[in-house]
Amino acid sequence: MKGPIGVFDSGYGGLTVMRSLVDALPQYDYCYLGDNARVPYGPRSFETVYQFTLECVQQLFELGCPLVILACNTASAKALRTIQQNDLPRIAPDRRVLGVIRPTTEQLGHFSKSGQVGILGTTGTVNSRSYVIEAEKFFPALQVFQEACPMWVPLVENGEHQSQGADFFIEQHLQRLFAHGPRIDTLVLACTHYPLLMPKIQAHLPENIRIISQGPIVAESLTDYLLRHPEMEEQLSRHSSRQFYTTDGPSDFDAKAALFYGEPVQSRHISL
Ligand code: DGL
Repeated sequence: MKGPIGVFDSGYGGLTVMRSLVDALPQYDYCYLGDNARVPYGPRSFETVYQFTLECVQQLFELGCPLVILACNTASAKALRTIQQNDLPRIAPDRRVLGVIRPTTEQLGHFSKSGQVGILGTTGTVNSRSYVIEAEKFFPALQVFQEACPMWVPLVENGEHQSQGADFFIEQHLQRLFAHGPRIDTLVLACTHYPLLMPKIQAHLPENIRIISQGPIVAESLTDYLLRHPEMEEQLSRHSSRQFYTTDGPSDFDAKAALFYGEPVQSRHISL
């Protein structure tokens, strides 16, 4: 039976990716799951992020999704490989789970002229060194500098991303990053929550620094993936429907989700 594309994030951030997916591939059905009851994932251990992510992926499989996108860097860094290699062959050999790190690192070197790029992410993503390891495969000469920004997700989740308080933490982390990589000309917002901080990040940087948010890159990569994998594309239903599930309260979710998704959202609660 055909089913929707599943999109998962620990909270709201994945909605920024889903926006780009829906814009690029509107014909498909989509099913979003935000684990808002357990956000943030960023500071949690490898084992916890893996367990939480696996539960959410299984839930999306139960909702009928043949393909799930982990629209969360922390989950992509800490859980994706184990799920792909150990769990999928056992629990769902015909289904697929894709992340956001590989599509980003495949492109990274094309953006930079100076040969220095900066990665801004959660503590979990940065400590995993996934971006450094993956980027080296595609662009061995590229210098990748990382900065963990643990305050940025709480700022966004709490609706403080336009406040003066946000400026303090944005400046602090950008200064630290550029102290290590003074020739950085490309910055990756390697957390799906961070696009909401884009105007403030831009305001703290010279104009010649390119800031990359992942939505369009992931959408392009999924378009390409579906062309290369017609056996998966055939399993996707096409009624342009969008469903939203949250592990926490739907009214709270709907109130904030529109900010990330760019249009009103009506969600349902789901227990894992
Ligand atoms: N949106 C997640 C990411 O892309 C991070 C949010 C969290 O810490 O749970 O890494």
